[in-house]
Amino acid sequence: MKGWKRMTILVTGGAGFIGGNFVLDWLAQSDEPVVNLDKLTYAGNLQTLAPLEGDARHVFVRGDIGDRACVDALLAKHQPRAVINFAAESHVDRSIHGPGEFIHTNVVGTFQLLEAVRGYWQALPQADKAAFRFLHVSTDEVYGSLAPQDAPFAETNRYEPNSPYSASKAASDHLVRAWHHTYGLPVLTTNCSNNYGPYHFPEKLIPLVIRNALAGQPLPIYGDGQQVRDWLYVGDHCSAIRRVLEAGRPGETYNVGGWNEKANLEVVNTICATLDALKPRADGQSYANQITFVTDRPGHDRRYAIDASKLMRELGWRPAETFDSGIRKTIEWYLANQDWVQSVESGQYREWVAKQYGETA
Ligand code: NAD
Ligand code: DAU
Repeated sequence: MKGWKRMTILVTGGAGFIGGNFVLDWLAQSDEPVVNLDKLTYAGNLQTLAPLEGDARHVFVRGDIGDRACVDALLAKHQPRAVINFAAESHVDRSIHGPGEFIHTNVVGTFQLLEAVRGYWQALPQADKAAFRFLHVSTDEVYGSLAPQDAPFAETNRYEPNSPYSASKAASDHLVRAWHHTYGLPVLTTNCSNNYGPYHFPEKLIPLVIRNALAGQPLPIYGDGQQVRDWLYVGDHCSAIRRVLEAGRPGETYNVGGWNEKANLEVVNTICATLDALKPRADGQSYANQITFVTDRPGHDRRYAIDASKLMRELGWRPAETFDSGIRKTIEWYLANQDWVQSVESGQYREWVAKQYGETA
């Protein structure tokens, strides 16, 4: 982009799973600096960003997207050409136990961030104003749950969020849409399916199962394990976001998915079989013997599936990984990075596991 004094992007939530992968990927492919604003909740981990230590292209700031003074100061100081909003409370089960933080960050925080960005954007010179982008990272869960024969979610599906988490994300999407419609802010929204890959916090299904398998603990399957998710390797999500930022049309939403619908039990069996091959149990038994069926999640959505054809057709994006290649890479990464897993298992993590699973995980 021409005309900018400085090329810089502001990323929020860049110490979390997807934001952390995005920042690492971005700086592996570009010299454009990243200002990374993250509150460092239980889900934020500076260890993920350790490869960037001493790298002048990465500026980390601990702060809340809902803190207007903090965001105003960052925008004024760094003059970014784009803001990419990953910051959120992201775990459905936690939203069921305590929705308050989800409203605080996902709804009020997004509102405050939008207001700060609007003030900054409105004062930009015309060319910079036209080139500016606010990219909001959202989820397929805003569309609700599909029946087995339903077509995958398209961008035109109505919003039917079912959990406190998805309702808070739906609210944030509506705010982003309104800031475009009313104020003209050049926004882009992406609605993505379930991600997996390196640096995934072990409260979510895939990293939890890898962690518990290796620790000799139960692998908890909610209900009958036949709920379906559409899995996307996190590196493919990062490439989609880069592409939407580069070429997406302001005001548009883009669904991002991997065409990888799998039932949870199938995912867990695949992880067990891969671990059996890569790191067999000392007793020669399969990790699948650790599978344990537990009480279902309240209001559990049965099936998600994403139709990503708009993104493919209009912007030429394609996922590089299949589920088989991505899950193998992921398991190999966890086997090679057990120190990272240990670094996130603080007292807070153990408290969560005790609250959610009792003695079973
Ligand atoms: P995550 O929970 O791993 O990370 C969230 C990050 O945001 C953490 O680093 C946390 O410290 C930070 N954060 C939380 N509240 C904040 C606040 N008020 N101010 C600043 N930082 C704050 O989440 P994730 O899985 O990386 O998800 C990132 C985004 O992508 C979220 O918006 C989520 O809704 C969306 N998303 C996630 C998935 C998925 O499968 N994980 C799929 C689709 C969309
Ligand atoms: O679809 C995108 C969403 O995917 C994101 O917006 C969310 O931020 C992300 O957390 C994820 O939500 P899910 O609820 O689908 O992910 P989770 O890993 O928590 O669960 C995946 C499936 O596995 C779901 O059907 C619940 C089930 N599950 C999960 C856990 C943690 C189990 O059976 N046992 C478990 O212990």
